[in-house]
Amino acid sequence: MISNSLEETKKIAYEFASSLKGGDVVFLEGDLGVGKTTFVQGVLESLGYTEPVRSPTFSIMNLYPIMNHETIKQVIHLDFYRFETPEEIRSLGLEEMMIDTKNVFMIEWPEKGLEKESKMKYNKVIKFISLPNGAREIII
Ligand SMILES: Nc1ncnc2c1ncn2[C@@H]1O[C@H](COP(=O)(O)OP(=O)(O)O)[C@@H](O)[C@H]1O
Ligand SMILES: [Mg+2]
Repeated sequence: MISNSLEETKKIAYEFASSLKGGDVVFLEGDLGVGKTTFVQGVLESLGYTEPVRSPTFSIMNLYPIMNHETIKQVIHLDFYRFETPEEIRSLGLEEMMIDTKNVFMIEWPEKGLEKESKMKYNKVIKFISLPNGAREIII
């Protein structure tokens, strides 16, 4: 799919969110500024989360409670861009959180260590590509 604006990226995210279910682990792959966090903002809006959604670039992990959804109780938004040591990831306790199938994980920069340091298995990958004219290609 092609997105020509932040709003179009959110629309694509709304559509994606309708197929999301508890236990999903989503990897978001693509360069800085390509729209990964914007996509997560769209997913959260679609799930009824009304507060601001900020990038977890510095916090590494942000948790969002979801009300009134059949299978999802919480969205866990992670960004490993600034990840430095395996201990940082272990201290988050992701493997325990994965046992709860009402959690959904949305993970930016998973390739920065996560795949090596955790047994975390993903079941969905979304690829974001910047096109020369400023648009984005989003492959779901
Ligand atoms: N088609 C588009 N989709 C998403 N963001 C876009 C698009 N075109 C321009 N932008 C801008 O690009 C930036 C994307 O930022 P962000 O979602 O934080 O990226 P990432 O998390 O991939 O680093 C925003 O400032 C947004 O306004
Ligand atoms: Mg981001």
